[in-house]
This record gives sequence, C-alpha cells and structure tokens, in this order.
Amino acid sequence: MRNTLSGESRQPFSLQAAGTTFYVISHPKHMSEVFKNTHSFSFHEFVLDILKATGLSPDGIAKTYDLNPDIVDSTVDHFQHPIKNKHFEHLNRQLHITQLSPSSQNDNLASLDQAILSWLQDHLTIPNLQQYSLVQDGLEVDLYKFINEVFTRAGEHAYFGPAFAKINPDMAKEFQIYDALQWKDLYQLPPFLGPELTSIKEKLIAQLKRYFALPQEERHKQNPSWFTPNTELTFDKLGVGERDKAIFFLMLYFAANSNTPKLIFWFLAHLLSSPASYLSKIRSETSPAFTGHDLTDPSYLLNSTNCPTLESFYLEVLRFRSNSASARRVTADTVLPAPGSFVLRKGAKIMIPYRVFHFDESVFGADAKEFNPERWGSLPASARGSVRAFGGGKSICPGRYLAEREVKKAVVLLVRRFDFEVLGKGNDGGEWMPRGDDSRPGVGMMGIEKGGDFRVRISGRE
Ligand code: HEM
Repeated sequence: MRNTLSGESRQPFSLQAAGTTFYVISHPKHMSEVFKNTHSFSFHEFVLDILKATGLSPDGIAKTYDLNPDIVDSTVDHFQHPIKNKHFEHLNRQLHITQLSPSSQNDNLASLDQAILSWLQDHLTIPNLQQYSLVQDGLEVDLYKFINEVFTRAGEHAYFGPAFAKINPDMAKEFQIYDALQWKDLYQLPPFLGPELTSIKEKLIAQLKRYFALPQEERHKQNPSWFTPNTELTFDKLGVGERDKAIFFLMLYFAANSNTPKLIFWFLAHLLSSPASYLSKIRSETSPAFTGHDLTDPSYLLNSTNCPTLESFYLEVLRFRSNSASARRVTADTVLPAPGSFVLRKGAKIMIPYRVFHFDESVFGADAKEFNPERWGSLPASARGSVRAFGGGKSICPGRYLAEREVKKAVVLLVRRFDFEVLGKGNDGGEWMPRGDDSRPGVGMMGIEKGGDFRVRISGRE
C-alpha cells in the first residue's frame, strides 16, 4: 500500500491491489468533481469489469456495452416502449428508472410496491413463518438468516412473479451463499481464489436460464414487474445469448435483494437493542396506517411528520450500517481541483467509500461514531445529503425509493404483528448485537461478522 496524502486533510491517497491502482477519495469537493466529470471518470467501464468477472462472454459484451451507439439505435428503434435511441448503458439505466422512479410517467413503482405489500401481508403470519423455525414447538429463528431469506423471496416475487418459486423454491436461500461471496467478483479476484463462488454462481445462472426457458405466458402471469419482460425484450432484440441474459438478470437479482433485507435486519436489531420506548413510539405513530393487522395506508409511513421516530431510525440505520462506495475508472489523466492538486492517472480505479462522510463529526456531531437516532431531531435538513448509502452521481441507486418503501413497510408490519424476544441475553442489554462486517467497502449495507447471528423467539401480538 502507498499512502501519498491522507489524514485530517482528507486528500486522496492511492492503494495498489492485484496490480491495479485505486485512488481513495474522501473530500466532498473531490467527490463532486468525480460525479461531474463523466468524461474522465467512467462508471460504465467499472460495471463492465464486474460483468466480465461475473462471466459475461465477449459476445455478450459486444452486443451490449461495446456497441457503436448508432448500431444500438437502429437495433432498438422499433422497440415498442417509450425508450428509444439510447446507448445500452443509458438504455439499461433508463429501464431501471422507468420501473423504479416515483416521477416516471407510469405506475410501475406503485405496482411493484403494492405487489410487495400484498406478498408481505400474506407471508408474514405465524402459521406461514413456521417453515423457517429452528424448533417444532414455537417459532425461533436466527434473525439475520431469517430476514435475508424472507425479504429476498419478496424481492424475487416482485421482479420475477410466482413462476420463479415454482421452478426453484430455494433460490432465495441459495442466493445467500452467493451474496456473501460476491465481493470476490467485485474486487475481480481470479476464479481459482473463489471456487465456492464459481460453483454457487453457476447454480444460480442455471436456475435463471431455466426460468427464462419457461413459456412467456407462464412467467408473465401475475408478474408485477415492468422491468423484467421489457429488459428481456431488449436483450432479444440485441441478440444476447441465453447464458449472458441469465448473467444480467443475476446482477438484477443481486441489486434488488442484497441490500434491502440487510437494512431491515439492522433496523430490527437496533430497535430490539434500544430502549423499549423507541418500539412503543414506532408502534403508536404508525398505528393510523393500519386496519387491524393490515397495513392499509402505506403512504402514511413516508411522511416524516406522521412518523418522526420511524424516519429518524431509518436515517440513522442507513448512516450507521452502510458500507457503500461508488467506483469509477479513470479514462484520462486528470488533476483534481483544490484542495490540493492531485493527479489521477488513466487506467486506475477510483473508490469513494462513503463511511468517511457518515462519521464526519463536523456534520453529525462529536458522537458521530455512536448509534443515536435522536440526532436527526436537531440536524439541519442538509445533513441528509451526507448520508450516501445509495451512492451518488450518475450511478446513484435507482432502487432507493422502492427500498425506503419496502423497509418501512416491512419493519412496521413485523412489529405490529409480532413480539421478538432475543433468546439468552434479554432484549435491552444489546451484548448480542453482532459486529457489522466493515472489512471492505461494498455496494451497500454491511453484513454481519461470521458467527454473529443470534436467535429470537417470535410470537404473535393480539
Ligand atoms: C437498502 C437498499 C439499497 C441500498 C443501500 C442500495 C445501494 C446501492 C448502491 C450503493 C449502488 C451503487 C451506487 C454507486 O455506484 O454510486 C446501487 C446501485 C444499484 N442499485 Fe441499489 N441499493 C438498494 C436497493 C436497491 C433495490 C431495491 C433495487 C431494485 C432493483 C436496486 C437497484 C440498483 C441498481 C440497478 C443499481 C445499479 C445502477 C447503475 O448501474 O446505474 N437497489 N445501489
């Protein structure tokens, strides 16, 4: 490792890893420049590196990312939806935004959101959750594993419809193995350093191929997603092969399901280890959104005036438990603006690990390293801009609106319907709280340290 400039001044520094130079950026002015200067700092080259590491073939790359924009335009020009004349990188982003943005001229986000709600209302009942129990008598689960599995299934249902679970009811469970190892592709480790990753990846790719081999009518039946059929159509127009198509959809499965469940887990874990008054406040302030145990007015939860404790907890968990980074590839030697005059060399990679911003005492106060939802009551509105769990610039997460909706719905449904008892240690002590795995910057919420899962007993509330 070579540190050129670092420390309090928050100047960039460079690291060498696996033959590549990484520049680590932590000054807000440098971050803005990286976001703005899309000519010198490419996101698309960085994504391509990950797709290659995941296994996308040269043919798949040629048919998508390497295309001359003119050819793409003529290939997709007759494509029957509102997006035309775009290079694939933009087209792909536009497809996500058309599905996920609340300002899109359609109801795509609302339908996905509603489908997730219906699935959760049906799924989150004591008799149904018994399938996850580690004991016959009562309902006991390891919380991290349980939440990840349940909410991955919710995301799978939203993007692929009920047909997926019919061909493989265990995809959500198998995905957890992939999710824990995927960082090796993100960091482009050679396959011989990750045989387990290769093996689980091949299994998931095979499942996705089986799914896409089903007749379309079967897959589209009750599938709430706009994105999946339209992206498939795009790939078919571009002549992308079946395996490459499955790899692109594995990336979607990962993007949609890697982070949201972890955020729900941390939200619950912090709620269970905080003074019981937080749980009471969240239950009572969200009560008007319910009719009995049914969440009948989910939009109520998004208004911070209605639900201030829910909102401040949400922001604090995002701040405290995300380990997100944005990455770019340098495509031309470029001098960063003041402070300093650091030169970023062509070919190197850039990392912006947002945790530095999340613990900035000048923004969040002297207790920035503590978990304290109360801080949000007195922080200026601008402090929210320093929470970068969803990344930034042109690569900012298009799923952030769906994620917020799902997390808030999930947490309030869980605490409305159930009581949770942490077994062995008692709820208030918090000694059982696992350490977050912050060993490397990733693409979102952190997982837990190995062996850190803990058991809870879940019981129904009247
Ligand atoms: C708590 C939940 C989530 C977190 C913390 C999160 C975080 C992130 C981060 C940090 C990035 C990279 C941003 C960057 O490079 O600047 C990203 C990208 C992305 N996220 Fe999310 N995400 C979440 C949920 C979702 C959901 C529910 C979806 C739905 C599909 C989604 C779809 C995507 C996609 C497609 C990208 C790639 C964007 C691109 O290539 O332009 N995310 N997310």
